[in-house]
Amino acid sequence: MTTTPISPSLIATLPGHYYTDPEVFRLEQEKLFESMWFCAVRSADLDRPGAFRTVQVGRESVLITRARTGELRAFLNVCRHRGARLCTEESGEVRRTLQCPYHAWTYDLDGRLIAAPNLINMPDVDRVAYGLIKVSLREWLGYAWVCLADEPPSFEHTVMHAAVERLGDPAAIEHYGSERLALGRRITYDVRANWKLIVENFMECYHCATIHPELTEVLPEFADGYAAQYYVGHGAEFGQEIKGFTVDGSEGFATLPAVTTDQDRRYYAITIKPTVFVNLVPDHVILHRMFPLAADRTVVECDWLYAPEVVASGADVSKSVELFHRVNAQDFEACERTQPAMSSRAYREGGVLVPSEHHLGVFHEWLLSRLGDAGGGRDAGRL
Ligand code: FES
Ligand code: FE
Repeated sequence: MTTTPISPSLIATLPGHYYTDPEVFRLEQEKLFESMWFCAVRSADLDRPGAFRTVQVGRESVLITRARTGELRAFLNVCRHRGARLCTEESGEVRRTLQCPYHAWTYDLDGRLIAAPNLINMPDVDRVAYGLIKVSLREWLGYAWVCLADEPPSFEHTVMHAAVERLGDPAAIEHYGSERLALGRRITYDVRANWKLIVENFMECYHCATIHPELTEVLPEFADGYAAQYYVGHGAEFGQEIKGFTVDGSEGFATLPAVTTDQDRRYYAITIKPTVFVNLVPDHVILHRMFPLAADRTVVECDWLYAPEVVASGADVSKSVELFHRVNAQDFEACERTQPAMSSRAYREGGVLVPSEHHLGVFHEWLLSRLGDAGGGRDAGRL
């Protein structure tokens, strides 16, 4: 097969097999999702002791629960006896203990083994040593982030710094007070595409004029193909006639209390690698959490967060939800259209990035350095 050389103003994407190969995905599970901080659950979803949620982090099922002291705890969702999955439901609530459905070993909400049938005959079983395996957990922006690494990387450097990098001011994201906001709507999307297609799509706006008619109406500069992410600290300004970040540009809700004048009437988009997107607008925050389940499947949970009084009043949030829901549906349809072609011979060497997408090359370099180029390198598809 012969291919045309890429012109100097264009650079290559990753080869197609990076989006389809189960071995590349396995490496990503190990080197990214199981090694970095992973945004797992919204803290307020676990609103009382015993409430739990299980999430897939790389190859592990992680159980997150609220202890009696009120703190969140994370454990591997594996019984220490013979390895049965402790909680099989995605979410739920237990009274005081977590009991394995196989032989009834029972753990308290701090993960200590507190009871097991016939254990009285086995005095040498150390109840602490056979407790659930703890997973590191940090809370930020109102979410619980977990890390499976034995020695987690600095949360400040690897997670919080991403926001600083984008907004140019460490305090800028704090102005939105995400941890104090209330959930107005959550929509879960089961996307038949590799997680990197979703990241790349989020990071560029070359597609905005083609597939996002409602968004470009609200943010006219997006029609030019430059994402807000392209400029450090630059939010995309609302159009002159636009009153709020809603599907028809109509009035939204009151500006969040600490949002500054220069942040008002602007939209900011932040990618926190590997799996989180934060969208900031004056009256709400939209946060995407991705759960990559296979090379060609990613579940995305998207939360729309508003001031608590807006949600408590029962106000109709559908106009602002509808705007980004349409954006999500349009984006994920584009990713699903791209996924099958990743295994085409036409994409064996990858595609190209136009100048307004060159920052995606930085994402690719980051990925390759994390994987230690073990995915086969850019040239692996060249035969
Ligand atoms: Fe859990 Fe036996 S595997 S009690
Ligand atoms: Fe988009």
